[in-house]
Amino acid sequence: MKKAPPASRRKRSKPSSRSSTISKQKRFETTEPTLASGVASKSLLDIESLSASEIESILDLTRRLDARSRESLSGELKYKRIALLFYEASTRTRVSFEFAAKALGATTSVITATASSIEKGESLIDTGYTLQAHGSDCIVIRHPSSGAPHILARHLNVPIVNAGDGMHEHPTQALLDAYTMLERKQKLEGLKVLIVGDILHSRVARSNTHLLTKMGAQVTLCGPEPLLPELASTLAPGVQEIRDLDRALQDADVIMLLRVQKERLEGLQLNIDDYIRNYQLTVERLRLAKPDAIVMHPGPMIRGMEIVSEVADSPRALIQNQVRNGVSIRMAVLLRALKRQQ
Ligand code: CP
Repeated sequence: MKKAPPASRRKRSKPSSRSSTISKQKRFETTEPTLASGVASKSLLDIESLSASEIESILDLTRRLDARSRESLSGELKYKRIALLFYEASTRTRVSFEFAAKALGATTSVITATASSIEKGESLIDTGYTLQAHGSDCIVIRHPSSGAPHILARHLNVPIVNAGDGMHEHPTQALLDAYTMLERKQKLEGLKVLIVGDILHSRVARSNTHLLTKMGAQVTLCGPEPLLPELASTLAPGVQEIRDLDRALQDADVIMLLRVQKERLEGLQLNIDDYIRNYQLTVERLRLAKPDAIVMHPGPMIRGMEIVSEVADSPRALIQNQVRNGVSIRMAVLLRALKRQQ
């Protein structure tokens, strides 16, 4: 039987009330002053449990950070230690969290599933206790299992930031996507956002659907039956499903493409040739959309599968803007996690 951790590793204080469900978010209090005016200090576990005003606060903080010089930001998280605990592969999220933390003056350490004691069988919770005992002030975690960040948050007393958990949520991706849409479209309310592809396995689709509907956008999900179950439209109020991409494109202001997650298909019957024929965004298909409709993709994208290079590299595609905004959004999320509202 597993022994309870020593008192020094147990939670020192009980956070505000939190149910056992993964949709509830724990709040952490710190005693330090902050630049993050209007944003309470806390973990970021998912979008579902955030209010529209909390989302707006993070976006607003990101705008304020973007307006500042690199030099003026570099002391904001001086002496803070941020652990980047990545159980799953990542390029964009991992690099941008690391750059964001370092831009604010924090010290970072990257822990991956290989080349760490995770490889020797150390549990998630024991890894968390270890990072906390090292003096980590915040843990950013990506994990293949849904709910892993919530488990850490229940056991540790440092803020936890979800960098993508299984098929559940990817909150910072949805925030940077919203920020990118706002740069081009000015408001989310009334915006028609079409999300196309492997909705079933996509934490990005889930977080975006929660965020966009909370902010008043109209979300339409599009994909073949195996990748878009009818139940998906119950994810949030007002979400609709359209199977026919050519029809769905005509109304969209934003077209967000998703990768087919071959590693998660697990026996699903999906004919790749049919998928490409019916759901690939080609130049001809893009002509069916409004002239000012924008194309987005969270990455990694598979050229020749869900998108052709002529579209991915066209001025209509904001894919590199999304990547760029990832650093700013993650700076805001880390400040929110580590500094108290003033
Ligand atoms: N969008 C995204 O999460 O990309 P990475 O897997 O490269 O981090």
